[in-house]
Amino acid sequence: MFTGLKRLEYRGYDSSGMCIDAIDAPTPTGRRESASGDGLANGSSADGTSSSNGRVEDRSSPIIVKCPGKIENLENLTAEYVQQHNLDTSKVYKHHVAISHTRWATHGVPSAINAHPQVSDANADFVVVHNGIITNYQALKDILKKNGETFVSETDTETIPKLLKFAYDSMTAEAGSGEAQVPFPKLVMEVLTKLEGAYALLIKSRHYPGELVACKRGSPMIVGIKEGPDGSSSSSKVSSGGLGRAASITRLRDQYNDSHWTGALEAWVASDASAVIEHTKRVVVLEDNDVLHIVGGGYGIYNTRQADVETAVPRRLQVLQLEVDQIMKGGYEHYMQKEIHEQPEAITQSMRGRVKQQKSAEGNPYLQQRIKLGGLVETRGNPYLQQRIKLGGLVETRDTIRRSRRIMFVACGTSYHAALAARQTVEEMVEVPVVLELASDLLDRCCPIFRDDTCVFVSQSGETADTLRALEYAKARGALCVGITNTVGSAISRATHCGIHQNAGYEIGVASTKAYTSQIICITMMALALAEDSISKRERRDAIIDELGALPDKMRSFMQVQDVAMKELAAQLKDSNSLLFFARGNNYATALEAALKCKEVALIHSEGILAGEMKHGPLALVDEHLPIVVVATRDSMYNKMESVIQQLLARSARLIILCTAGDATMQEYAKRSDCQLIEVPGTVEPLQPILNIVPLQLLAYHMTVLRGHNVDQPRNLAKSVTVT
Ligand code: G6P
Repeated sequence: MFTGLKRLEYRGYDSSGMCIDAIDAPTPTGRRESASGDGLANGSSADGTSSSNGRVEDRSSPIIVKCPGKIENLENLTAEYVQQHNLDTSKVYKHHVAISHTRWATHGVPSAINAHPQVSDANADFVVVHNGIITNYQALKDILKKNGETFVSETDTETIPKLLKFAYDSMTAEAGSGEAQVPFPKLVMEVLTKLEGAYALLIKSRHYPGELVACKRGSPMIVGIKEGPDGSSSSSKVSSGGLGRAASITRLRDQYNDSHWTGALEAWVASDASAVIEHTKRVVVLEDNDVLHIVGGGYGIYNTRQADVETAVPRRLQVLQLEVDQIMKGGYEHYMQKEIHEQPEAITQSMRGRVKQQKSAEGNPYLQQRIKLGGLVETRGNPYLQQRIKLGGLVETRDTIRRSRRIMFVACGTSYHAALAARQTVEEMVEVPVVLELASDLLDRCCPIFRDDTCVFVSQSGETADTLRALEYAKARGALCVGITNTVGSAISRATHCGIHQNAGYEIGVASTKAYTSQIICITMMALALAEDSISKRERRDAIIDELGALPDKMRSFMQVQDVAMKELAAQLKDSNSLLFFARGNNYATALEAALKCKEVALIHSEGILAGEMKHGPLALVDEHLPIVVVATRDSMYNKMESVIQQLLARSARLIILCTAGDATMQEYAKRSDCQLIEVPGTVEPLQPILNIVPLQLLAYHMTVLRGHNVDQPRNLAKSVTVT
């Protein structure tokens, strides 16, 4: 469990907790969780397996351990608990249930009290872990308080176990003793009707020993199924059963225990695949409003939006294309370092099967196409053009996108910068107005969106809550919604009408690196594919496509040299209070992205500045101490950037110039003015930002290491921000 939890640590890492059944746990007199939060808590134990009214009762005391800080702390605290109580950890129920959580605080400071699991009461009748935010929690809290409940934590989550207990007590009181117990998923569905906001929940209860209910709306969740020794397929179990027939837990168990239900011995529920991959590759991706019920070696999935909520819904069992070594550091010290160095391979993967490097050998493609009529379909009436970019996900919507009133890119953080880096290419190739929107701002402004807009949602995780909400907003207004994500099966990839998978491989470091360069590649390929019919763009298009092919090797060629150079530069800059990055054109994105890296991992204040705006304020900051990185590679902005350099040098600025390798003019500046150079290979203008960002990523990485900060888990941040 701890290994899985550690794999999810990148999503949040300020506190953690777990709850597990153990038959040897001592019978406590009450919960040990104190206001000071020693981090240990027990639910009191019941003593029988079955009470007089026929309801199944828990025999165990669930052990709950919670603490602030890293999962390592949780491991140590748990080991301490086991030792103190002399527990035999091998003795667990046949169908035991454990739940755990790593938190990114939204309501209440990181502490043992606010860490999850949250419980319903001193006996821990209901135990819940939660990813997301319950937006109406205050109203729910007020109602529960009026009913005599007291709250221990400051979290929104605590309302959920309390509501469950309230619903359970009311429903069982109504049914009277001797009646069948309400099935666990049915109870949860009742409570879900009261919750607003986003959630992925894992719920266990002493009233339902050996059972787990998991449900989601807006936050991701998968279940990994480990097959039984007989090799039987778990998928046969999904649609079996059904709440309607499960009048009592005992009957459910009987049903699940017959031979048809002995396949799935283990189920692993998590926010993403990395947490389950060590156990199984067979997963079901849950959809919004799904309620998963795991009991007695089987599972059923229901959906609260179905007409018949008591009948299980079929969900496809998928086999993950992920290998454990993809989520290991593989010889590198940090994930960020590994992911920076993986970029040549990552962009190759993004282009694989999509970019055709050889041009047709035939002199006259028209003749060829007159014979092969199928070819006319692909080139849509223009036989002189070859299809060199193939994006399967956009084939059907290509014409609609080209006819759009405008193309709007919507994203957050680094993904927004990727859209900014490629905007000019889309404008140039497609000749449709392109606008960029930060997802949160689009929603704040209730930005007008029309039926003839194409909205492109760029998101590495495919789960970022702001981007997802913006997608729902655009979809409701009838826009064509395109997704560019690095996570197959993610919420954004499922909710968009069409799109492009980045295929850049798993990214774990909180600071996005390889996903960024791969996103620029994907948007560029999209622009090229949309311009395929244009004769006037043919030459330019071919030049970009040729360079796409050369790009991975160009990147490889300077990676090692720059790694050493940037380590040296990092040693000089690491104690700076501030860093500025100046650029213009599509390298403005490079400046913003480099500044973001310095902020988020090296924890140095930094700003990316559009050099055209330099005279309108930023120039006032310039002196001989403040380090300024100027991006001046050989492109259409070169002359303007040269003039920026001159103006900065005239004010004795401390410059570092990022330029094209072998640029004699820049080498001369370096010699005369004692400024440093970062030399990168040249390429066509639309692709230059992909090479330019690499040394700046390395610079941020090395400064972080030298400053002694956590590279992969910078303070206060999370990789997947699934709350708005
Ligand atoms: C978080 C991460 C960033 C990322 C942003 C958008 O802030 O720390 O690295 O760029 O979310 O994430 P997305 O998954 O939508 O690209």
